[in-house]
Order: sequence, then C-alpha cells, then structure tokens
Amino acid sequence: MTTICNMGCGSSQNGTTGSETMLTKQDEELIRTSWAEFKNGDVVMDGLHMYYRFFETNPEAKEFFGFAKEGEVNAENNKFRAHVKNVFDIVGGAVDGMDNITEVKEICYDLGVRHKAYGVPSKYFKVVGNSLIYALDRKLHLDSNTKKAWVRLYSIIESEAKRGMAAA
Ligand code: HEM
Repeated sequence: MTTICNMGCGSSQNGTTGSETMLTKQDEELIRTSWAEFKNGDVVMDGLHMYYRFFETNPEAKEFFGFAKEGEVNAENNKFRAHVKNVFDIVGGAVDGMDNITEVKEICYDLGVRHKAYGVPSKYFKVVGNSLIYALDRKLHLDSNTKKAWVRLYSIIESEAKRGMAAA
C-alpha cells in the first residue's frame, strides 16, 4: 500500500495503541463498493464539495489554506483543485489499505504530525470528516450502513491524525 503516501511519511513512532475502532468485513465491502462508484467519475470536481461544505460551516478556517488566501475557493482555482486531489489520494489510499490497517494508521499519524506544522487546531478534524462524508453522500446517496462504515473508517483516520498532532 505505497500509493497512499508520497509526502515523506513512514517515520512515525506510533506504537500499537491508538484508535480502537474496528472495521467489519461488511464495512470494508461497503466502503470499497461506494469508493469505486465515487472514483468512477471526477473525484476532484465532486471532492470540491467537501471544502465548500467545510468553509460554509467554518468560514474562519479559510485562513489556514494558501489556496483560499490567494484566490477564490472555486473550481477555477488550480491550487484548490490540487489540494482536493491530495486529500482524496489519502482517502483512496486508506480505502485501498483497509486490509493493512496498521499501515493506514501510520500514514494518518504522520499526516497529523504534518498538520501540527500547518498550525490547524485538531478540533477541525471532526467537521472535515463530516464534510468528507457529505461530499460522498452528495454524489452517492449513501445508505445508512455505508455511511456508518465511512464514519468508522474516518474515525480511525481522525484518531491517528490527532495522535500525531499531539505528539508533534
Ligand atoms: C483526514 C483529514 C485530512 C486529510 C486526509 C488531509 C490531507 C491533507 C493533505 C494530503 C495535504 C497536503 C500536504 C500534506 O500531505 O501534508 C494537506 C494540507 C493541509 N491541510 Fe489537511 N487534511 C485533513 C484534515 C485537515 C484539517 C482538519 C485541517 C484544518 C483546517 C487541514 C488543513 C490543512 C492545511 C492548512 C494544509 C496546508 C495547505 C495549504 O497551505 O494551503 N487539513 N491536508
């Protein structure tokens, strides 16, 4: 599962503790199927809605993002589109790596370490997760089991990222 990280990760010392959330085989199946459907389209254009939602609910968070400070947050903003692609690459990597969840956790831990350096408060991870699931749901109209499965996967990502932030 090497595609998930091309940004200098792999150095975490995150041990064996961390998120206790477990994905069932059914969760994994629902996530894989829905992700395949999401990918079968324009991930970036659909993914922009994650950030539209995030900034709608938390407009003050724009100040953290270079792409939002330098230009309008819309589909014409190249840096915004590049950011969305980066974020969804991580999400896709987490989906592809679900059967090696320890590696996913390490990558998310390192993501948290890097986010500490961006100066973002960890409280935003919750609303970013809600915004991610909003963007998936907007396109796919997720049923409740699929939504719950994504919430569980995101809670692993969130909890490891927060551990990385706390340790950085
Ligand atoms: C699981 C959720 C998240 C994922 C997958 C994610 C992913 C990424 C990725 C891939 C990058 C590119 C640089 C790098 O890899 O370090 C990045 C940058 C960044 N992220 Fe996140 N992120 C998440 C949550 C958040 C949250 C909650 C915030 C809070 C506001 C945030 C703020 C930022 C900022 C400020 C940057 C730098 C971008 C810039 O300077 O314009 N991210 N993120």
